[in-house]
Amino acid sequence: MSKTFFMPLLAFETSCDETSAAVVHQGRVLSSIVASQIALHAEYGGVVPELAAREHLHNLLPVAREALRQASVSNEQLEAVAAAQGPGLPSALMVGIKAAQAVAFVLRRPFFGIHHHEAHLYSPWIRGNPPVMDFSDFQPNLSLIVSGGHTMLVHVQAELKHRLLGATVDDAAGECFDKVGKLIGLAYPAGPQIDRLAEQGNPKAFDFPRPMINDQNDDFSFSGLKTSVRYFLRDNPAVMTDGRCLRDLCASVQAAIVDVLVTKTIRAAKRLGVTCVTASGGVSCNRALRKQLSAACARERFSVRLADPEFCTDNAAMIGAVAEHKFRHHVKETSLDADIHPNWSLCSEEAVR
Ligand code: KG4
Ligand code: ZN
Repeated sequence: MSKTFFMPLLAFETSCDETSAAVVHQGRVLSSIVASQIALHAEYGGVVPELAAREHLHNLLPVAREALRQASVSNEQLEAVAAAQGPGLPSALMVGIKAAQAVAFVLRRPFFGIHHHEAHLYSPWIRGNPPVMDFSDFQPNLSLIVSGGHTMLVHVQAELKHRLLGATVDDAAGECFDKVGKLIGLAYPAGPQIDRLAEQGNPKAFDFPRPMINDQNDDFSFSGLKTSVRYFLRDNPAVMTDGRCLRDLCASVQAAIVDVLVTKTIRAAKRLGVTCVTASGGVSCNRALRKQLSAACARERFSVRLADPEFCTDNAAMIGAVAEHKFRHHVKETSLDADIHPNWSLCSEEAVR
């Protein structure tokens, strides 16, 4: 049985390099503020954990104030508080969770520590304007979570009931985009730039490997693809100075990544007998992936639900929406003394409450 009367919930997300706060009320995202640290980390070619944590400290209160202001909600009106509890960078997670626990302590409200991937997993169900997490047409589904830190396939059997099927054994797909980008001189994160350059390139120009595409399991591997691009550039240095060849290279690498993701996602969905596929995480912004996954689902007569680009990359709205859903369905709150879980695996949540 769910609660009938419900007040707004404030959520924080600080697991990596986005400082985010959101206010959610009855599934509705009243505000979603994200302060990105991309410019700060770009010169280092990746996220520097110590810098990320300090920047979260600097940004969190202004971001939270703005989220409350845009939602026209006062501190006293909050009924619960939530934060990403893991996985993520330890020092970065600590900023968000301790702030949320302090707010919950002072206001005497329940606190919910949310699994970052669980939030990505249900983010495709946040849609509309204003955005609402709506499970009214929920179907059991196969979910692809694809980001800078993770690539995984998850069987979602019911709302908040899921089973991890497989994950990357080395680099994540986003990491592969970012590392290939670094090889060709693009700033971090390179994924969105490769997406743009690939649009004008030929995806069949160069033949890169599709690691594990034929393996009958749900795991991924992308480090070999990155290495083959490195050797290719060593043997063909002229590619680096030819704009057209670089666009072809981006399109060919992107095609290899997307091919693996789409093939393995569809194969797992067919095996499980589900007829709905969802995708979330930063890489699910990729236009070729969105197009090809949608086309493959249409061929199989599967319904497809891709997270709205606003909720693909890290954001507190997805944390708040899952927390509020749990609160409404009487899931036990998290202790105010609970620690962060930097290596929290998706299917072991009960172990840490
Ligand atoms: O979910 P996210 O914000 O952070 C993690 O939890 O990792 O994902 C960030 C990742 C980065 O690797 C970035 O390059 C990638 O998502 N990304 C993209 C695109 N937009 C973001 N990769 C390919 N194409 C895009 N359009
Ligand atoms: Zn993420």
